[in-house]
Amino acid sequence: MKLTLCLVLLFRLVHASHNATRKIIAAAEADGITLFSLPFAAEALAEIQAIYDLEHIDVPSAVENATRVDTHAHVVPPWYQAVVPFAGQVPTPNWTLEDHLGFMANYSIGHSVLSISAPGSVVYPGSEVKSVALARLLNEYLVALVRKVPAHFFFFAVTPLPYTDAAITEISYALGHLGAAGVGLLSNHEGYYLGNVMFKAFFTDLDARDISKEVVFVHPNGPCLHAINGSLIDANPTVYPEGIAEFYFETARTFMDLTITQTIINFTSINWIVPHGGGAFPSIEDRFIDSQPAGVVAASNAAYSTRLFWDAAGPVFPHQVQGLLAYGVPPSQLLFGTDYPYAHFPYALQIATIENATFLTASEKVGLFAGNSKTLFAS
Ligand SMILES: *[C@@H]1O[C@H](CO)[C@@H](O)[C@H](O)[C@H]1NC(C)=O
Ligand SMILES: *[C@@H]1O[C@H](CO)[C@@H](O)[C@H](O)[C@H]1NC(C)=O
Ligand SMILES: *[C@@H]1O[C@H](CO)[C@@H](O)[C@H](O)[C@H]1NC(C)=O
Ligand SMILES: *[C@@H]1O[C@H](CO)[C@@H](O)[C@H](O)[C@H]1NC(C)=O
Ligand SMILES: *[C@@H]1O[C@H](CO)[C@@H](O)[C@H](O)[C@H]1NC(C)=O
Ligand SMILES: *[C@@H]1O[C@H](CO)[C@@H](O)[C@H](O)[C@H]1NC(C)=O
Ligand SMILES: *[C@@H]1O[C@H](CO)[C@@H](O)[C@H](O)[C@H]1NC(C)=O
Repeated sequence: MKLTLCLVLLFRLVHASHNATRKIIAAAEADGITLFSLPFAAEALAEIQAIYDLEHIDVPSAVENATRVDTHAHVVPPWYQAVVPFAGQVPTPNWTLEDHLGFMANYSIGHSVLSISAPGSVVYPGSEVKSVALARLLNEYLVALVRKVPAHFFFFAVTPLPYTDAAITEISYALGHLGAAGVGLLSNHEGYYLGNVMFKAFFTDLDARDISKEVVFVHPNGPCLHAINGSLIDANPTVYPEGIAEFYFETARTFMDLTITQTIINFTSINWIVPHGGGAFPSIEDRFIDSQPAGVVAASNAAYSTRLFWDAAGPVFPHQVQGLLAYGVPPSQLLFGTDYPYAHFPYALQIATIENATFLTASEKVGLFAGNSKTLFAS
């Protein structure tokens, strides 16, 4: 009888130590986050717990020694897909851990830096409580995957901007406690582009965090406008889904804003990943930068070639990237990225066009697929 009781207590103790849910709730409470403001919080926590409870994860042998590093790779938790059934105005893709590992095996990807695609935590415009809770649940989901497959996964934290104070708290938790490889931002958060003066405190904090450089991965978001009554309205002026062209304009807009506000040149401890080879940014660069003081132009150009890294997700090769390189951005700033599972362009073709590019040397291609990202994350 006594022994049975002991065993029961022991079982409870051991079990309790593996109760991730309890720790997640406590950490959120300590940061003033109300996870249960979201109706699906219990379901999300159960799915996160289920990841921790997986006994065995079958990492395909082809992933083991694969060398490519995918810096633009997305995760879609099932509960998030239910909340965000459309992304870029097309159905949000299905995602599973098993498929992701199978994808990596198929394309010789040894490391993936996991992130959440648009709209990130910008799902409840005007509600700080819900946005912050969503960002936290997404970060807990991402880190659970990384902890289960630490040899192959890293993650970029979801940042609940435009709520600056909460965003600072969240990245402090994600970078400091969860070991995020960097932070993920959107081109606009509730219609505010990244150079907006209300984000200055956020970048000041990020810049001052550490002696090493922090990595900011920017992802395009759909364009939107503030209606007179304060609500947010979709601002895609065309009949085509955002993913076709608006995302490229979004990237151009936000990096123009970051340049003109001097956010890029003032905060020298931040390295940036610009998605999709800059999107439409190279096309507008000469035009907007012409209005800037010579010192800003020189410092910005220097940053574009040193602290900005440009990912090759999408049909960036062979045409678009040559516009970027024509500005003098060295190939050592190019990164590999796939946009899995969102891309609507065949992954095999994307990779073949990079392999095939006549304007990069063999060693520059090796750098693009792997070495350049190691430089980025090690700096
Ligand atoms: C883990 O902790 C949560 C929150 O305290 C609780 O609801 C749940 O029942 C616990 N799960 C187990 C398996 O003990
Ligand atoms: C990976 O590399 C290690 C060390 O070289 C080797 O022992 C192992 O067999 C390789 N695995 C695969 C799947 O090739
Ligand atoms: C997700 O999977 C379901 C079930 O297989 C399928 O009906 C649906 O079309 C898939 N969604 C997308 C966006 O591919
Ligand atoms: C990987 O390749 C296999 C074999 O061609 C295919 O069955 C599978 O669907 C692929 N997985 C992904 C996620 O693309
Ligand atoms: C606010 O204005 C927009 C655009 O005119 C409209 O679509 C929306 O329904 C309005 N919202 C409220 C709460 O009145
Ligand atoms: C960057 O510094 C300049 C002064 O050198 C200042 O005018 C500008 O407002 C600063 N911008 C940001 C985003 O800190
Ligand atoms: C590779 O380059 C050759 C020669 O320029 C071209 O014929 C072929 O279509 C290219 N393949 C891809 C996938 O870009």
